Amino acid sequence: MTLKIVSIVGARPNFMKVAPIADAVERADGHIEHTLIHTGQHYDERMSDWFFDDLGMPRPDLNLGVGSGSHAAQTANVMMAVEQPFIDLAPDVVIVVGDVNSTLACALTAKKLGFRVAHVEAGLRSRDMTMPEEINRLCTDAISDILFTPDIIADENLKKEGIDETRIHFVGNVMIDTLLRHLESAKARRYAASLGLEPRSYGMLTLHRPANVDDKDRFVEILDAIQDGVGDLPIVFPAHPRTRQRIMEFQIGDRFSQQPGQRGIWLTDPIGYLEFLELNASARLVLTDSGGLQEETTILSVPCVTLRDNTERPITIEQGTNRLAGTSRRPILAAIADALSSPLSGSKRPDKWDGNAAERIISTLLAYR
Ligand code: UD1
Repeated sequence: MTLKIVSIVGARPNFMKVAPIADAVERADGHIEHTLIHTGQHYDERMSDWFFDDLGMPRPDLNLGVGSGSHAAQTANVMMAVEQPFIDLAPDVVIVVGDVNSTLACALTAKKLGFRVAHVEAGLRSRDMTMPEEINRLCTDAISDILFTPDIIADENLKKEGIDETRIHFVGNVMIDTLLRHLESAKARRYAASLGLEPRSYGMLTLHRPANVDDKDRFVEILDAIQDGVGDLPIVFPAHPRTRQRIMEFQIGDRFSQQPGQRGIWLTDPIGYLEFLELNASARLVLTDSGGLQEETTILSVPCVTLRDNTERPITIEQGTNRLAGTSRRPILAAIADALSSPLSGSKRPDKWDGNAAERIISTLLAYR
């Protein structure tokens, strides 16, 4: 019997999670009918299209084109737009990944239509209810039938919430499947060299969380602390569209350096997956408020400073190269000093972060036929 799967992508971090699943579906040839739906939450070329090319991913069968909006509007628009396609497709299972608004909207719509929902990257918890992603994670896990977890801490979180163990499947980290698959070709692009950057002679920065960039004083404090903490080490800062808008609004564009190899923070547009991976792999340190980068630096053995008060990925601190710096000056300076004095090798690889997570997901789903 053929298994009908619909998987959902919406925002940038979803693409690298669904790519290995689409790939594993291909390898299970003939047994699975797979439909890929893009909600259109992210729509800029640099936030969406490029990733399909870089990851060698099939183009979405359907793009709902919902675009930006308030949380309520965006979530509701995805729900309304995806309902009829779900009815038409009548899937055996809808796969949602991560914690963005599209994840929750599609899980909720599918579940209310009576379709089975599988959540990939289940069980992550920051315990910070001011984060929209935490609300999305809690609600998605509560209603999903199948919970695919990336690490054992996530399993424990779900069990503590009373979720039946038969729903939980520890499969590992799909984002790391993608990283391991593309690392060599990313390095071969020599993007860092094309910017005049020597390995380990620069740092990387990403910042996009509303809590960090929507308030001018907070944003400037973070930038100042980074600049003072890294000294002469040049920093490459590919900015999310939201961050770019705030920089213009706050009129702080003159704080940034003009060239990538110079002392200071060099602001650039979002870059493709492979170029970004290579830059991170060769960096001396990574500063970020992203979730995925905490995991990627763990595998790349690059010290990571997370510019947040909490993380839903504590395994990257316990076993990886990550440390929490908060968002104020003194702890950021201390975390950067600690990162710069830490070795560039020797981080442990969390269990099942081995490139085969998507394979495990598909074999588990095939058992549900
Ligand atoms: C979303 C996710 C966040 C994830 C991030 C990764 C939610 C709640 N948040 O945040 O967890 O870490 O994606 O990138 O789902 N914009 C563009 N072009 C685009 C997309 C967005 O210009 O292609 C701008 C728009 O001004 C938009 C703003 O960015 O209003 C925010 O976009 P949105 O999708 O609401 O959330 P992100 O901040 O991208």
